[in-house]
Amino acid sequence: MTGTDGVASGEDHSCVVYDAGELVVGPPEHAGDADTETSTDPDGDPLEIIEDAAFAAVDGAVVAVGPTEEVTREYPPENADEAIDAAGNAVVPGFVDPHTHAVFAGDRSDELEAKLRGKSYQDILEEGGGILRTVRATREADDERLLENLLSHLDAMLARGTTTVEVKSGYGLDVDTELRLLEVIDRADDAHPIDLVPTFMGAHAVPDDTGTEEYVDHVTDDQLPAVASQGIAEFCDVFCEAGVFDVEQSRRVLEAGRDVGLTPKVHAEEFTRLGGAQLAATLEAASADHLLHATAEDAAALREAGVVPVLLPGTAFGLGEEYADARTFLEAGAPVAIATDFNPNCHSRSMAFVQTLSCLEMEMTPAEALRGATSAAARALDLEDGTGTLRTGAPADALVLEAPSSAHVAYRFDTPAVDAVVKSGEVVRS
Ligand code: NIG
Ligand code: FE
Repeated sequence: MTGTDGVASGEDHSCVVYDAGELVVGPPEHAGDADTETSTDPDGDPLEIIEDAAFAAVDGAVVAVGPTEEVTREYPPENADEAIDAAGNAVVPGFVDPHTHAVFAGDRSDELEAKLRGKSYQDILEEGGGILRTVRATREADDERLLENLLSHLDAMLARGTTTVEVKSGYGLDVDTELRLLEVIDRADDAHPIDLVPTFMGAHAVPDDTGTEEYVDHVTDDQLPAVASQGIAEFCDVFCEAGVFDVEQSRRVLEAGRDVGLTPKVHAEEFTRLGGAQLAATLEAASADHLLHATAEDAAALREAGVVPVLLPGTAFGLGEEYADARTFLEAGAPVAIATDFNPNCHSRSMAFVQTLSCLEMEMTPAEALRGATSAAARALDLEDGTGTLRTGAPADALVLEAPSSAHVAYRFDTPAVDAVVKSGEVVRS
């Protein structure tokens, strides 16, 4: 057992979760090379699991994790402000969703039929549908509507076990709306138990009344300075794709973002292998996302540069595309993260379903998928406080499953096997 001495004082909120049949702590501590924090041992166990386990949290952070007998001796459940008897069920870290476009208005459900009639994602975009249609609806929506929409999506995510989520702007494509979207993300972060990580993505599409070069100038010269002085966004992302932003345009956006303190992220190799992954490596981006058409060479470059690959199997599922080659990234020693990519084209708010797809369609093991949805996802967001693990000192974000093992997360694909959710040491769903 690891932990700090003493029972929680009356002032600090305390929580004990005990009698877990198994408790997933996180990746083994020996995982990772000395020279880079973003590698994993391809032959090692993806996760450290303790049987008959418990954890205690005080003031939002894990203070002890280990065998139930030892943890409860030091932190008796009857003395805690809140306690959960896991009754032999599994306990895992809360899911971290490192890639969503969750703030938008409008409805694109009719695109399902258009796709079935043979239209591709890019056909729809070129005809002024897709992202641009959501941009029109989003510009028209007031802040309260956008906030209400986002909060309802966050409720759905929390019920499915997500405790931290990255949310991108990118359905404004002008200074005012992009700032409004980031403001709404910030307000939702204050109003909701889920922690939100805000990303600026003005370079999500080119508005239909502007040329691409002209729009890139607008992003770098007008949007980015305004976003920087607003001070909400942490990352800057770009859709590096044929027909959207090429590698040089993407580089301009990301370098300008970096100049004002935003860490780069890249939508790379989604429909074509354009060079976004190599760009992410050159810029030492936090992550390169999608990667459906990335190669072993790209995987090695990302691993070398410490860039986290974020795979989005829900997008491939929804579009009927080939899945990313997860095994190539795992074999390269990269900490492969997975995410929902929740957006109007990929209406999934379930990191559990993403784990199912990762196993059934990308040949990841349930443990690799769970690591991808927790600690590896936290790395894609540069979260270095232990988020995505239940190690001592980490934020106490945990799920009590209604299942005896963590394998049930990926195994079940109707309703997520989540019974209770603890966020920052407080029971937020039970
Ligand atoms: O990651 N690829 C670009 N952006 C989103 C889709 C957004 C949309 O279609 O509205 C994605 O899949
Ligand atoms: Fe995306």
